[in-house]
Amino acid sequence: MSRKYNISDMTIVVTGATSGIGFAAARQLALKGAFVIGVGRNEEKCSEAIQKISEESPGARIRYIMADLSSLRQVRDLSARIRSVAAETGNDRIDVLVNNAGAFSNWYISTEEGFELQFTVNHLAPFLLTHELLPLLKNSEAGKVITVSSGSHYRTRIRWNDILMRKRYNCLLAYKQTKLANVLFTTELNRRLGPSSNIRAFAFDPGLVNTDIGLKGTAGIAKWIWQLRKNKGRSPDIPASEIVWLIENVDTPQSNEVYWKGCEPKAPSRYSRREDAAVRLWEISEKMCGVKWFSG
Ligand SMILES: NC(=O)c1ccc[n+]([C@@H]2O[C@H](COP(=O)([O-])OP(=O)(O)OC[C@H]3O[C@@H](n4cnc5c(N)ncnc54)[C@H](OP(=O)(O)O)[C@@H]3O)[C@@H](O)[C@H]2O)c1
Repeated sequence: MSRKYNISDMTIVVTGATSGIGFAAARQLALKGAFVIGVGRNEEKCSEAIQKISEESPGARIRYIMADLSSLRQVRDLSARIRSVAAETGNDRIDVLVNNAGAFSNWYISTEEGFELQFTVNHLAPFLLTHELLPLLKNSEAGKVITVSSGSHYRTRIRWNDILMRKRYNCLLAYKQTKLANVLFTTELNRRLGPSSNIRAFAFDPGLVNTDIGLKGTAGIAKWIWQLRKNKGRSPDIPASEIVWLIENVDTPQSNEVYWKGCEPKAPSRYSRREDAAVRLWEISEKMCGVKWFSG
C-alpha cells in the first residue's frame, strides 16, 4: 500500500453491474467521477441502472454494454465494444477491470461452447475478458484486475478429472471450485505479469451479502435456503465500498496480499497457493478459451 489513486481520472469496467455488488460498485464509482463501463446481460436492467445512477448524479459518466458472459463468443465481442467505448475518452486505456459477474446454478447447464455454465460465467469469462483487455490495462499508469471471489473457495479443490463436473454435477461444489479458480487465476496472473508490471491482480472476498444470486438459478429447497441465508448478509453497498477502497488505496500486492476481505489482506486457502494447480488451471483455461497469453 503506498499512494492514493484518484478515481475521477479512471476508466473502470464492472461486469455484473445490473444488480447486487456490481450495481452498487458501478454506482459508487460513477458518483466519485470515474468513467464507468458497466456490463449486464439484460437490456431493461442496463437501462434501469443507467437511469438510477444518472438521476442521482446527472453528470455521471456511465455506459452499459450488454453481453451474456456464458458465451465466450459474446465475451470476445464485448471486449471489442469496451475498446471502442473506452476510446471515447480519448485514451485507449482501462484503469480497472472488476470481474464481478457471477452465477449459481442448481442444474448442469451446457453453454454455447459446450462448457458448464458456472465454470464459464465465474471463471472462463473473467479469464478471457482480462486477456482481451490486457493491452488497454497496460496503457494505464497502474492497472488493476479485481476478481470477486468468495470465502467458499476455502476447503475445496479443483476436480482435474472432471473439471466441468459433467459426470457427477454438484451445484455447490461446482460453485466453490469456480471461486477457488478466481484465486488461482489472480495469483498466476501476477506471477506471469512479473513484479515490474504496471498491472496488479487482486481477488476480493465480499463476505455474505444480501443479494439475489441464490434465487436466480435455483428452485425448491435451495432457493428457500438462500432466501433465509441472504437476510443475514451485508448490504451490497458495503462490499462495493471495499472495492472502491481497494481501487483507491492498494498498490502492489505482495505474494501474501493477493486476497482481500474487509479492506485487509487475508491468507487465501492453502490449495489456492499451489503453483502447480495455478499453472495447470491456466493452461486448461487457455485451451478452452482458445487463447495463448504472453506469447512472443
Ligand atoms: N452474495 C454473496 O453473499 C456473495 C458472497 C461471495 C461472493 N459473491 C460473488 O459476488 C459476485 C456478485 O454476486 P452478487 O451476490 O452481487 O449477485 P447478483 O446480485 O446476482 O449479481 C450478479 C451479477 O452478475 C450478472 N450475471 C449473472 N450471470 C450472467 C451472465 N451469464 N452474463 C452476464 N452477466 C451475468 C447478473 O445479472 P442480472 O442482474 O441480469 O441477474 C448480476 O448483474 C459474484 O461473483 C458472486 O460469486 C457473492
